[in-house]
Amino acid sequence: MPSDKLDYLSGFGNHHASEALPGALPEGQNAPQRCPYGLYAEQLTGSAFTAPRSHNRRSWLYRIRPSVAQSAYRPLPAGDWVTAPPAELAADPNQMRWDPRPLPEAPTDFVDGMLSVAVNGDATAQSGCGVHVYACNRDMTERFFYDADGELLIVPQQGALTLRTELGRLHVAPGEIAVVPRGIKFQVRLEDAAARGYVCENYASPFELPGLGPIGANGLANPRDFLAPVADYEDVGGDIELVAKFSGRLWATRLDHSPLDVVAWHGNYAPYKYDLARFNTINSVSFDHPDPSIFTVLTSPSDTPGTANIDFVIFPPRWMVAEHTFRPPYFHRNLMSEFMGLIHGEYDAKAEGFLPGGASLHNCMSPHGPDAETFEKATHAELEPAYLGDTLAFMFESRYVFQPTPAALNADFRQRDYVDVWAGLRSHFSPDQR
Ligand SMILES: [Fe+2]
Repeated sequence: MPSDKLDYLSGFGNHHASEALPGALPEGQNAPQRCPYGLYAEQLTGSAFTAPRSHNRRSWLYRIRPSVAQSAYRPLPAGDWVTAPPAELAADPNQMRWDPRPLPEAPTDFVDGMLSVAVNGDATAQSGCGVHVYACNRDMTERFFYDADGELLIVPQQGALTLRTELGRLHVAPGEIAVVPRGIKFQVRLEDAAARGYVCENYASPFELPGLGPIGANGLANPRDFLAPVADYEDVGGDIELVAKFSGRLWATRLDHSPLDVVAWHGNYAPYKYDLARFNTINSVSFDHPDPSIFTVLTSPSDTPGTANIDFVIFPPRWMVAEHTFRPPYFHRNLMSEFMGLIHGEYDAKAEGFLPGGASLHNCMSPHGPDAETFEKATHAELEPAYLGDTLAFMFESRYVFQPTPAALNADFRQRDYVDVWAGLRSHFSPDQR
């Protein structure tokens, strides 16, 4: 039965089964002539029917009414939520950075509080992603949402959220992440007065755990630490608005009941959460440091092996022990385009200016790296083992160039002088002194 206690099923991508009433799951078949308790059977597929078994995702939902019991869809204004491809291509090679987006003053819920920072690929072609920052101060109550354009990787930065989803509830606080698959209906309740965070709207192949290669069977994000919700239905009527994001626009349909009426479900297509503190961080214990891919939590592969549609990468608390090594992230230029955010603390490549709740964007082949102050400090530092404790940065890294949105380009909180952080990097070259 529904309760205030949050329970979870653990394991990434496993087949789960959960029922809020005993015996609500039909035994031995998916769609019997009559389901237990008079429920309807409904399959939700997150992959093509014929996807290889390793990538096939679907769940069977046993619900009080089928999802089709709703009114016609009518278009809504999309607000600041932009979908790729944008109307105008706005990418330029300039490095960009933003201060934290201010919290709203007017009552704003999670959907209305979404502001797109950059997008890439093409949602209708199932490639690329949208990167958004949400800022909200109001619960969704008579309102629910699903995204047909992609799955939502939610990275809270301030304020805990309760995601009330069709398959059950997820509590997700800063330092944790949640993923709501494409099409799953949910609602966001705030556990604090206001909430802010980042969202990667992944239009392409669902996030999965990266391969580990020579690392072996364990390490990085371990499958058992991913938690799916348990079935937890409500049987209530009302005048409910269900907002759908479809092909770059928002649409509303009305229901006379809560869509959280799934009494039981089984399958491998479900929302999940993960505590980033569970990440097993692997790094150098000799010299130099590996490429940042060593910090990959989840990856959305593209059709080109090893070249991700999106990687979700974190820079968590960790020991630095590398000998005779420049320890901050090295100066670099990449094929992949990088959007970064900071959940808390300080990021080791920047002395100042990259704030929790802020963001930066370094597109394909645009040079970046530590600022002048960090370079000076790191080249003269005593190379003792050092613990980076108060830090949690992350990156959405994509093979596709990010197109910043007009709202992000013109935002008051954009740092227009960002490139100056590297202005103090002077020449130390002396041909006479090795
Ligand atoms: Fe980078």
